[in-house]
Amino acid sequence: MCGKVILVGAGPGDPELITLKGLNAIKKADVIVYDNLISKDLLDYAKDNVELIYVGKRKGMHSFKQEEINKILVEKAKEGKLVVRLKGGDPFVFGRGGEEILELKKHNIPYEIIPGITSAIAVPEVAEIPITHRKVATSFTVVTGHEAEDKEKKQVNLSELNADTIVILMGITNLEKLVNDLLKNPKRNENTPVAIILEGTTKNQKVIKGTLGNIVNKAKKEGIKPPGVIVVGEVVNVLN
Ligand SMILES: C[S@@+](CC[C@H](N)C(=O)[O-])C[C@H]1O[C@@H](n2cnc3c(N)ncnc32)[C@H](O)[C@@H]1O
Repeated sequence: MCGKVILVGAGPGDPELITLKGLNAIKKADVIVYDNLISKDLLDYAKDNVELIYVGKRKGMHSFKQEEINKILVEKAKEGKLVVRLKGGDPFVFGRGGEEILELKKHNIPYEIIPGITSAIAVPEVAEIPITHRKVATSFTVVTGHEAEDKEKKQVNLSELNADTIVILMGITNLEKLVNDLLKNPKRNENTPVAIILEGTTKNQKVIKGTLGNIVNKAKKEGIKPPGVIVVGEVVNVLN
């Protein structure tokens, strides 16, 4: 008999920010296939005989290709297992969750989708930055700051984005270019507030605030490293 795959959003870092439904799925899983940005504390809730499969980035080794992860999910489900695919934040926000669901559909594998709290909103929030605020910001955009190697892929044009607040994921290693592009945006200038939140919602959370004019230097001094969320807009200072 075929098993099932449950796609679970683990939330942004703090293990208590998973949903009750997500936690219940972890407790009954036979197999958990997990990424590097999930809190490892969540794995303590799994059954004693659970099979844990790490598919995140590994130092000095190649990252798992999406096709390899898809194959694991399909194979384990075909063995009759209840598989939890545990992803950081929300599975459908830059999480490639959609691709995994398409693969499961292709193989007629039963599945369920459990949303998670995305870092795009929760990481700024826990750092006391509301991404909308009455009279300050009535729109926000969440974009990737990761330059796609494949130039055929859809690219983000920061110089044209019109939302009041811009939230950038996967942008830490590309900060200088992102800032230069944002400075070409008629809606922003050197004084536009910027915040960088590293390892948000965890005990290692670090917040660096500045402006488009000085954030690159500030970030260099701090020696910033991913994971981090970049927030651009007046909301950065609204609760100061
Ligand atoms: C591949 S994306 C996945 C996003 C995830 N699906 C979500 O909804 O949060 C990974 C990026 O999310 C952001 N991120 C995730 N967890 C974070 C955290 N605890 N602190 C800061 N940024 C985080 C970073 O920008 C990181 O590069």
